[in-house]
Amino acid sequence: MCGIVGYVGPRNAVPLLLEGMQRLEYRGYDSAGVAVRQADGRLAVRKRVGRLANLEEALETEPLAGQLGIGHTRWATHGEPSEVNSHPHVDCAGNIAAVHNGIIENYLALRSDLEAKGHVFRSQTDTEVIPHLIEELLKDGAVSRSAAIRQALRQAQGAYALGIVFRDEPAVLYAARCGSPLIVGVGEGEQFIASDVPAILNRVKQVIYLNDGEVAELRPAGVAMAKLDGTPVQPEIKTVTLRAEAAERAGFETFMLKEIHEQPRVLRTMLETHVGKDGAVNLGEVSDLLAAEAAGLQRIVILACGTAYYAGMYGRLLLEAWAGIPCETDLGSEFRYRHPRLPERTLVVAVSQSGETADTLASVRLARRMECKVVGICNVAGSTLLRESDGGLLTQAGPEIGVASTKAFSAQLLAFALLAIRLARLRGAMDAARERELTAALARIPDGIHRVLERQDDVRRISQKYYECYNALYLGRRFNYPIALEGALKNKEISYQHAEGYAAGEMKHGPIALINEFLPVVCLCTPTADEVRDKMVSNLKEVEARKGRIIAVAAEGDATLQGLAQDVIPVPETIEEFSPLINVVALQLFAYYNAKLRGADIDKPRNLAKSVTVE
Ligand code: G6P
Repeated sequence: MCGIVGYVGPRNAVPLLLEGMQRLEYRGYDSAGVAVRQADGRLAVRKRVGRLANLEEALETEPLAGQLGIGHTRWATHGEPSEVNSHPHVDCAGNIAAVHNGIIENYLALRSDLEAKGHVFRSQTDTEVIPHLIEELLKDGAVSRSAAIRQALRQAQGAYALGIVFRDEPAVLYAARCGSPLIVGVGEGEQFIASDVPAILNRVKQVIYLNDGEVAELRPAGVAMAKLDGTPVQPEIKTVTLRAEAAERAGFETFMLKEIHEQPRVLRTMLETHVGKDGAVNLGEVSDLLAAEAAGLQRIVILACGTAYYAGMYGRLLLEAWAGIPCETDLGSEFRYRHPRLPERTLVVAVSQSGETADTLASVRLARRMECKVVGICNVAGSTLLRESDGGLLTQAGPEIGVASTKAFSAQLLAFALLAIRLARLRGAMDAARERELTAALARIPDGIHRVLERQDDVRRISQKYYECYNALYLGRRFNYPIALEGALKNKEISYQHAEGYAAGEMKHGPIALINEFLPVVCLCTPTADEVRDKMVSNLKEVEARKGRIIAVAAEGDATLQGLAQDVIPVPETIEEFSPLINVVALQLFAYYNAKLRGADIDKPRNLAKSVTVE
């Protein structure tokens, strides 16, 4: 949510900023801007509403150049998307420019105090208080710029990642973090800041993950860091192992399509990492944590937001079924305010693609205050979630750029399957033979997904019949109920077709009223033999009786469904517990082609942002 990039070094900052901003655009894309310290001594600011392309065009017509600069892609919180509300924001004199991700919660109080002292504000944003506050603190010349920044940030409440530059300090870039992600990219004779690693992956291989309450001072020759009270901090430089190509589109028309196609590889990589030749699951540090906790565990609480929440719903079913532990799933935004009562020895499993989602992190902190141990399932190494968890399970999906999550979601499903197997084994609820059987079934999933991907043109042809409908209903039972919810979410996120996911058994308690010959009803009907199969078929009969248009995700050769549904997306069979890993791919493709046929901007859906770092 909002992307920040910054540069200080010998080269012209502008193309480097724009390159980083392109890679960060998925964080926010309602406006964009840069501030560049030019050789003529001016601090030039250029902003445009809308996509980054608008700013790039403006910079082509009227170029800027300078060796120090900051850039920002915005997802509006305070103040509508407009040029004046776009970042960077400057002080009264235009000497200080700042870009910000997060929310300064006490900005109204700070603003009225500064206005009383004569500061003139131009925007409706919370961010603008930062440059004015620094300007005020520097007024009598008693403190250094870094001391003024630290002092200003001691007054600011809320969350921030900040990049700050001064007109009369042409070779220093300041950065600070509290609650919103920010990294420093350490180059040779040049330094970067960015909201995430992929933004500067092709420029640096070494990074410093800033911690909350740290301020960094970047000069071409090196980085100095301090806490808000001025205590120096020794920078901890880490080498990045991600490859730059991981964040490229690789010939696909969109990142989302590329990421859908990457799923077999992602799952194979995770299985290679975590399943031994003997078929046993090993989760590294999470295994150790589980070993220490398993016997006395009273409860598991899974916390997440958005798509990750649906992965958590799936995880709950597996953990209860296999490990025999009472388990609940809650939304980060609800758990943190519901005054939860948790029994002693509750294990929290927090799931987040980015590891930066504000509500998930706040819930994790609350759980830790309640003395729960936390396992983090996350796709970003070095993320806040992984750093704040007692044990981290990295889903190895690689950078996910498409705003709607696909490969990170399947990786989360697999992570839960592995976690549930390990916990069940540790608690003696599963024997080694069953574990081998399950991991052997998992090993066949990537090929199963391939088979679905091979049918993408068939899915496109089915979408052609339905993409103009106003609504769609998605139905699933048990392990496929969360997948129905995820399929509906994917569809509405990217195609803007209203879609609702429902537990098929609940359909007659409401949504059945919607069914008529215009309503597509997407039904998850694999596997063919399980406890809920006959119930699912009965539900479909109810849809058929009301002339609903059934699109079934069904097993290859499932004659019953062929007879019942208008359209079938055939998928290979696996055991019921793992069918979501295959079925979800069919729904991702269906949503994808609906969106494409409706002419939507698939990688950057309206109003969304990939990483939601505000409440
Ligand atoms: C946003 C994204 C979703 C994501 C959710 C939670 O809404 O658009 O794709 O599922 O945030 O994000 P997280 O990074 O915690 O998984």
